[in-house]
Amino acid sequence: MSDIQFEIILDHYRNPRNFGVLENATVKVKDSNPLCGDMIEVYLKIGEDGRVEKATFRGQGCAISQASASMLIESIQNKHVDEITRLGKQDIFNMLGVEVGPARVKCALLSLKALKAAIYGYLGKKLDVEEEFGESHG
Ligand code: FES
Repeated sequence: MSDIQFEIILDHYRNPRNFGVLENATVKVKDSNPLCGDMIEVYLKIGEDGRVEKATFRGQGCAISQASASMLIESIQNKHVDEITRLGKQDIFNMLGVEVGPARVKCALLSLKALKAAIYGYLGKKLDVEEEFGESHG
């Protein structure tokens, strides 16, 4: 990992963007990593046109889980929910800009999993998050 990328990740961890409870959120979801207990709550205010007017998160946990949450939530401001449904694991790895080893994949994807659950909940879709993220708890 380059020093710069390391600094960017640490900065998001120490100074998370859009951190906090969003009053009058359209949808909110909490998720945690059962292996360590680290958690993320995602809050979305979604407009009539299906765009995210405001997204925030709260959480506590390791640097990778919290930094990726900060980066992800920052990246979806004003995005349409359809666009968000297309986000995948690789988008998170690209945001982090580092190779994520198998032991840290769950850390990196915790916020995406919570975000997808929130979006699917909003869309009224059956929650396929467990399937999409290949939950094996191992
Ligand atoms: Fe818990 Fe990273 S160690 S999410």
